[in-house]
Amino acid sequence: MQNFQFYLPTKVYFGQKVLENVGKETKILGKKALIVTGKSSARKTGLLQRVEKSLKRAEVETFIFEGVEANPSVETINKGTKLAKEKKCEVIVGLGGGSPLDAAKGIAILSANPGLLVDYFGRNRIKKNPLPVVAIPTTAGTGSEVTPYAVFTHRENRSIRKKIIADSSLFPKIVLADPELTLSLPASITADTGIDAFSHALESYLSNRSYPLSDTLASEAMKLLFNYLPKAMENPKEINIRSHVLYASLLAGMAIAQTGTILVHAMSYRLTTDLGLSHGKACALLLPSICEFSLKEGHPKLTLLGQCLGENMENMTTKKAAEKVLTTIKDFVHQLALLQDLKIEKIKEGTIEDFAQEIMQDKRKLANNPRQATLEDVIGMYKKALW
Ligand SMILES: [Fe+2]
Repeated sequence: MQNFQFYLPTKVYFGQKVLENVGKETKILGKKALIVTGKSSARKTGLLQRVEKSLKRAEVETFIFEGVEANPSVETINKGTKLAKEKKCEVIVGLGGGSPLDAAKGIAILSANPGLLVDYFGRNRIKKNPLPVVAIPTTAGTGSEVTPYAVFTHRENRSIRKKIIADSSLFPKIVLADPELTLSLPASITADTGIDAFSHALESYLSNRSYPLSDTLASEAMKLLFNYLPKAMENPKEINIRSHVLYASLLAGMAIAQTGTILVHAMSYRLTTDLGLSHGKACALLLPSICEFSLKEGHPKLTLLGQCLGENMENMTTKKAAEKVLTTIKDFVHQLALLQDLKIEKIKEGTIEDFAQEIMQDKRKLANNPRQATLEDVIGMYKKALW
């Protein structure tokens, strides 16, 4: 059996009403907290007020940084950091979907380290431990609550890029994963964030850095999402279904925290920054073409992958097995209606080449993909997804 290292320094509370622990747990980490949240939904649903109340009851002085946009910008992180420093906050509470959670991590970095966020783009560049982060996810998809990653948008000259910070100090200290908080998510966000979680699980499973323990997390996440995500679209108020989807997204996050992602995530970023697609839609669009490229010549886990997706894979040639898995993935994406009415203006050959050239610089993700891709391969996958 292969050697491995598994690292997850995060205390995870999972289940209904675990939100109630926010005051008690945050108090252990600091006396002054900055709550970082999105534009309006946490306030509208009363969730922000609940968290604030619980913190105050635990005698944690609380400040609020609201208005984090999707794909948070470096400027937003700077504003949040200014407030955290002014108020001498000791702990950051991220409340919301992936964007507020990543913003909380960014603010936590800059509150404890000198310089600009750009200084920390990349891997393992953080010198001093960021402020501790308490993560309260309100969507089931990002996995940010159990990963050492945060993604930001950064303006470089005239273009906008998504930039990752990966550092083991970025794991949140506490996660309060309460499925009740996902009950009010509209179908579009359930599908969008759910396919992100599914992509995390699938990418982790196919990753060259996967190993038996990460596979256990990833395959269970895939099975659960495959079964429960369509059900969550049909019965959004069903707590048991929502619990399974949130649990699966946690497992998928834990899996990529160990293995990283493959080409789907790498290739998705320019579809968000340049074409305006949400992260989930970008992944949904790319999953079939990248799976086709990665699996068509076979993969040691192809049969097990098909079984995770509920298929009978007995007595199949590699070609048939790959076709079956691919059809199942395509049908799954289709079933979630993510790409319905999606209109992408035909983009120029040169733009696709530009996207692909950038992917060729991402040696880590290229190496992590189960089948090695050339520039022409990446261009081909983009064309198949977009044209
Ligand atoms: Fe993702």
